[in-house]
Amino acid sequence: MGTLREVTHVDNVKLNEGATAVVILDQTKLPNVTEYLTLETAEDIYDAIFELKVRGAPAIGICAAYGICVLARKIRSEDYDSFYREFKKNKEYLDSSRPTAVNLSWALNRMEGVVLANREKTVSEIKDALLQESRKIQEEDMRMCRAISEYGLSLLHDGDGILTHCNAGPLATSRYGTALGPIFLGKERGMEFHVYADETRPLLQGARLTSYELQKGGVDVTLICDNMASIVMKNGWIQACLVGCDRIAANGDAANKIGTSGVAILAKYYGIPFYVLGPTSTIDMNCPAGDDIKIELRNPDEIKKKFYEQPMTPEEVACYNPAFDVTDHTLITGIVTEYGIARAPYAESLREIFQKKEKGSLHNQ
Ligand code: MRU
Repeated sequence: MGTLREVTHVDNVKLNEGATAVVILDQTKLPNVTEYLTLETAEDIYDAIFELKVRGAPAIGICAAYGICVLARKIRSEDYDSFYREFKKNKEYLDSSRPTAVNLSWALNRMEGVVLANREKTVSEIKDALLQESRKIQEEDMRMCRAISEYGLSLLHDGDGILTHCNAGPLATSRYGTALGPIFLGKERGMEFHVYADETRPLLQGARLTSYELQKGGVDVTLICDNMASIVMKNGWIQACLVGCDRIAANGDAANKIGTSGVAILAKYYGIPFYVLGPTSTIDMNCPAGDDIKIELRNPDEIKKKFYEQPMTPEEVACYNPAFDVTDHTLITGIVTEYGIARAPYAESLREIFQKKEKGSLHNQ
């Protein structure tokens, strides 16, 4: 077991000295091996995101922001137009690594905004501005997660049983996490929760990462297979479900790791509140509803072979491997953001969240 602070303040994505590379904690190796990777090229960064070495919507956004910054700093040209052409090529390449988490394009668009806004400046000044912006994106994420944790904690009671799906902890963000944030913050304040972590087939983020983070932080965690959520709810062991999100549509429909919508349906049946926690960088007001969210399809071998010593299926069997599903807004009790908790009707409450964002007052921490 480590200290709680070691877990909540993990250095999972950062720039190296000199900002020539992005350094990430390789999440595919956890919990067995703690290994940092140095990403220097566009291919390194693309591969790290595509292979989920860095994963979780906010962490993907931060990695992309640092990544495009590193790549931009390597562009030789001093001429704005050719610098921008090269920047754009890298941006589009990184943006194509994973389609569902909106934080990826959100962060990359923000970085492009810096290039466009500074077109009158020298390329060297633009590179400095990109460095500042990428750091700002990570610092903002830290503050957002902390505020989400505060709002989320206001929904919980000491001793609650909580079910979570996938991993929305510090590893998936930069501090505390979103869905796990209130649990860690409560722990810091002496509260005890009993967390049930879905293993999260097929890539086992719950088993490999959530149970690891919670256990290391001293939180009481029990790992269950995804198909055991119903029995723990029926047993009366769950008082709230907390999950993260990869893209929330303007009507409140929320895409998250495959299996999340099933948990929400079960929670509704058993009368358990189901909360989605995420920063406003994960809310896509340009996306009207869940049906408009592109769902990533991944390699069937993740189901057939990945974590087995030998293949566990007939070799040629057809496999459907969507990485995410969309939870209908009618199943969601509340969407917890850094600007407060949105509740139905979400079309209105999410607009209000963005109005608060324009005024810029985060939770009083
Ligand atoms: O495929 P992954 O592991 O990147 O999916 C991650 C999730 O679904 C998380 O719940 C989500 O990104 C929120 S992370 C704070």
